Amino acid sequence: MSLFRRKKILLGISGGIAAYKTPELVRAFIKEGAEVRVVMTPASKDFVTPLTLATVSQNPVYSSLIAEDHDNPTWNNHVELALWADYFLIAPATSNTLSSMAHARCNNIVLATYLSSQCPVFVAPAMDLDMFSHPANQKNLDILSKNDVIVLPTEKGFLASGIDGKGRMPEPTDILTYMENHISKTFPLFGKKVVLTAGPTYEPIDPVRFIGNNSSGKMGFELAKRAAELGANVILISGPSAINITNTSVKRLSVVTADQMFENAKLHFEDADIFIASAAVADFKPETYASQKIKKRTAFNQINLVPTPDILAHLGSIKKNQFLLGFALETENELENASQKLKKKNLDAIVLNSLNDAYAGFEGDQNKITYIQSNKAPLLFELKSKTEVAIDIFDQILEAREKLS
Ligand code: CTP
Repeated sequence: MSLFRRKKILLGISGGIAAYKTPELVRAFIKEGAEVRVVMTPASKDFVTPLTLATVSQNPVYSSLIAEDHDNPTWNNHVELALWADYFLIAPATSNTLSSMAHARCNNIVLATYLSSQCPVFVAPAMDLDMFSHPANQKNLDILSKNDVIVLPTEKGFLASGIDGKGRMPEPTDILTYMENHISKTFPLFGKKVVLTAGPTYEPIDPVRFIGNNSSGKMGFELAKRAAELGANVILISGPSAINITNTSVKRLSVVTADQMFENAKLHFEDADIFIASAAVADFKPETYASQKIKKRTAFNQINLVPTPDILAHLGSIKKNQFLLGFALETENELENASQKLKKKNLDAIVLNSLNDAYAGFEGDQNKITYIQSNKAPLLFELKSKTEVAIDIFDQILEAREKLS
């Protein structure tokens, strides 16, 4: 899933020849699922028209501080626009615009919006080779960097002057890649590996029958999505589940049995930073597997069961620095049983799901949890959607990890 999905991108355009590439830039963001609004300096309108940008962005475009309606002059609210944005990109950023930004000059709507902005601001400088390397411009870029503006690199190539050199604005897709790389590094789980088990396991009796349970996998999949949103590389070891996951940071490993889940968990545990066992693993499996369908006429009234490996207990016994979180599904003495599981399986935390709560449970979209850590009072949460529960759980994990580092 793209990092720009559902994000609000404000594009500021200043008057350089590279402005002709901005409709493509708008398109590239929209293709990634972003909403785009555009502000332009008056000079930029010589290179690209507001109509083109309004058409591709499907939003009104502002190029002056006052709406250009002589009978009904109104103020184009740059403050509102600035606060609306998740990310503000100024591309191309000319020498004039960069200098004005560095010195808080405010004579057009792009500059006014920049000075009101609260979100991360990116600039893509674009100018001629010698202009770009001029100490005055380099000084301004330095001031902007110190003011937390993220300066995208310029590219070497054919410039409007005919000279071949450094100063070109990168191609639209490269701008998105630069931004993505920068943004993802600011995520709390950037570069971390999160491994999860989810869903049920099926323990086969014969080719058509199995022992299983009602787990939908929803909670585990929501946790996997949240981990990816926080910047982690995610391995989701899932038993049979109808849920699809399309996030490119989540690698799904589909398994059927507890033994298969165990093998994959062991493989990915060693270099994991966080391991979450949310699967409803079958505790028992048939001692033998009938390779042909057991016929009705067979005298068959008993299945001998043997225990499956306790994946979480094993991982707890070999744990080093991994943060290990388990789930507990209880119907009686809930807090006590869950706290015992926390100790017995050597966990950092355990999430108690109670089957006694109406609406919460295996198949529903909601859950009501209690988050338990050793030497701390249990945290009780309200009944919430599983998406919100996943956010709560990761908030707790991040808080605990912060204290450790
Ligand atoms: N778990 C596991 N492997 C198993 C059984 C459970 O990894 N074979 C994990 C689950 O994913 C969960 C935790 O252990 O995170 C607790 O599961 P739960 O079913 O509540 O408890 P059990 O350990 O199976 O104990 P009991 O059935 O006695 O409550």
